[in-house]
Amino acid sequence: MPRVRVHQHVNPLAPFYRFEPPPIELSGIFADAALPLFLDLGCARGRFILKMAELEKQQNFLGVEIREPLVAEGNRLAREADLTNLHFEFCNAMMALDHLLENIPEGILQTVTIQFPDPWFKKKHAKRRMVNAELVETVVRHLAPGGRIFVQTDIEFLAREMFDLFRSRENLREISITENPFPVKTEREKAVEEKELPVFRTMFVKE
Ligand SMILES: C[S@@+](CC[C@H](N)C(=O)[O-])C[C@H]1O[C@@H](n2cnc3c(N)ncnc32)[C@H](O)[C@@H]1O
Repeated sequence: MPRVRVHQHVNPLAPFYRFEPPPIELSGIFADAALPLFLDLGCARGRFILKMAELEKQQNFLGVEIREPLVAEGNRLAREADLTNLHFEFCNAMMALDHLLENIPEGILQTVTIQFPDPWFKKKHAKRRMVNAELVETVVRHLAPGGRIFVQTDIEFLAREMFDLFRSRENLREISITENPFPVKTEREKAVEEKELPVFRTMFVKE
């Protein structure tokens, strides 16, 4: 089946994307809802978590994406691959992640990844960036003690901005890393590597 065609970017502040998704019920989307949860924010076509879900059967993988056709495509691929530990949700993470995660059990969210989010270079578009104070607060609140947040980008100013938002949270310990700690690379990471661009990455652990 051909790849679904989508707009390269969508404006997350447009009225269409200002919606509150229904809170997810893990038992409705995963075969074993008690497994540790891995959340990939801004997962695009979801190939990273698709591969991760194949490799790590003892975790559940949730991809969150604002471009709805990619969510439908990801869920179709998960069904076709019989992956009952993989699911995709349509959500504007910069303003509605808290609604989506409202009902997840305490202590279940073990890993969060934020990889190469859109930089929105122009100053007047800064408010469109996915990683804002609200998203950081939500992620840290839901993360289990000992849980990890992995953030990477090839855009230096964006790295600084995102890392500083996480660094401002008292209950996170930063672990400096040079390599991607996961056995899979995202589409964007592969493209950046091919161009031999630098990647800025870090990891936080909740105390
Ligand atoms: C540059 S792509 C990177 C995709 C993937 N993480 C990778 O590394 O290949 C950024 C992705 O984040 C999605 N995105 C942007 N803003 C978002 C938001 N507010 N909520 C959810 N997804 C968002 C975009 O649609 C896009 O798929």
